[in-house]
Formats: sequence, C-alpha cells, structure tokens
Amino acid sequence: MDAVATYRVFAEVYDRYVGGFKEDLPLYQSLCSGRNPILEIGSGTGRVLAALLRDKHVVTGVDISAEMLAVAEKKLAYFIRRGALTLLNHDFVHSGLSTTFSAALVTFYTINYVFDDPQREDTWEETELDGANGTMTLRQKRSMNGNFEERLQIFRNGANQREITTRRMYYDKATIVGALEECGFTDIEITDGYCLSGFHKLERKEIVRGSFVVKASRD
Ligand SMILES: C[S@@+](CC[C@H](N)C(=O)[O-])C[C@H]1O[C@@H](n2cnc3c(N)ncnc32)[C@H](O)[C@@H]1O
Repeated sequence: MDAVATYRVFAEVYDRYVGGFKEDLPLYQSLCSGRNPILEIGSGTGRVLAALLRDKHVVTGVDISAEMLAVAEKKLAYFIRRGALTLLNHDFVHSGLSTTFSAALVTFYTINYVFDDPQREDTWEETELDGANGTMTLRQKRSMNGNFEERLQIFRNGANQREITTRRMYYDKATIVGALEECGFTDIEITDGYCLSGFHKLERKEIVRGSFVVKASRD
C-alpha cells in the first residue's frame, strides 16, 4: 500500500487519531514568525495549516492524498475564501512548485513516506481512542526492517471497522542533513523533540532518541 492508498482510508479517522496533537505546533509557529508565504508539504487534514492561519500567515498546503485535502478544505473553507490558504494535490517527491516561499515545512512524519522499497518483520498493540461519538478501539501491528516500518492498524467502532496499512522510513539525522546539503541548503540545525531552544549543528555520532526537527535555509 503506498501513501495515497494509506491516506485514502486514513482521512476518515486521522483527526480523531492525531488531530489533537499540539506539542510540535509552537515550534513551527516560531520558525514561521514574520515570514510569508509559507508552504507546508504533506499538509494532510490541516492540523498545522490551521495553527499557521490562526497566526495570520498566508499558506499553501500540498498533499498527495485527495481525501486528506478534502478534509482540510472543508475545515479551512473560511481561509480559502479569504485567499489566505491554497490547497494543492501535489507530490513533492516527483516535482517542484514554481512559486517561491519564505519558509517550507515538512512536518510530523511526512518525510518518512519517502523511501526505496525494502522488506520487513512483526508485533501487536491495542489502545482506546476517545472521541465525541464514544470510544474507538485501535489494534496495530508494527513490522520493522532496519529503519523501515510497515504498520497495520485496525480502527473499530461498534460494527464499523477500518484497516489502514502505512509504510514509512525512519531517517537518521546525518541522512537528512546530507540530503539538505545536497539540495543547496545551509544553516542546517537540529533539535530533539520540538524544543525550540535546542537547535544545534549536527554533532559527530549524534544518535536519534525520538522525533527530531531539522531547519535549514536556502536563497
Ligand atoms: C503524517 S501525515 C501529516 C499531516 C500533517 N502535516 C499533520 O501534521 O497532521 C503525512 C501526510 O503526508 C502526505 N504525503 C505523503 N507522501 C507525500 C508526497 N510525496 N507528496 C505530498 N504529500 C505526501 C500524506 O498524504 C499525509 O497527508
């Protein structure tokens, strides 16, 4: 299953699953402060777009999933009407955009969808997801092969069941920094978690402890 197929199904449950996650937003908001226009690559259902729009930025969101874009379009219709938001169905891996942006964000695991196809292996876990219409059960199995993950999730709400397969690559810091350098980016800095005061240049043998954010500049 590729990202388009994954998010075709995910769109329906995405906001319930991670729509309430806000820990990373202050970091993006701070990095975008004073900048316009902003591009978010892999903008999904608009979790990050909404925060930037509330801060009065002019934003373009691109995504490969028509279903995720449709949710964002519905939620953020007010900003589209006012000309503050443009949504595009666009695959950032295979082509660029002609517009120039003051800042571009690739947030919240979107970069992990860029990979050449490897193999895999297994484990299961179960959680309850609370929402306005009661509790939903999530059963998931992650198969890791090196840094490549294939995840099978079963969202169950009464008689309704949705199965979602997600394939993602977890990159180490040096690989991301190397890719940005190759594309002509400078001032490359990393922070662990979403800690705004933690940005630093990549250190030799720096390991990945969990989520990290990379920022960089390009003329
Ligand atoms: C984990 S979601 C993140 C959504 C949103 N940024 C957020 O923080 O909630 C990843 C998004 O990246 C999109 N995506 C994956 N590969 C893409 C590609 N090549 N071009 C554009 N979007 C892509 C998926 O469709 C999905 O909506």
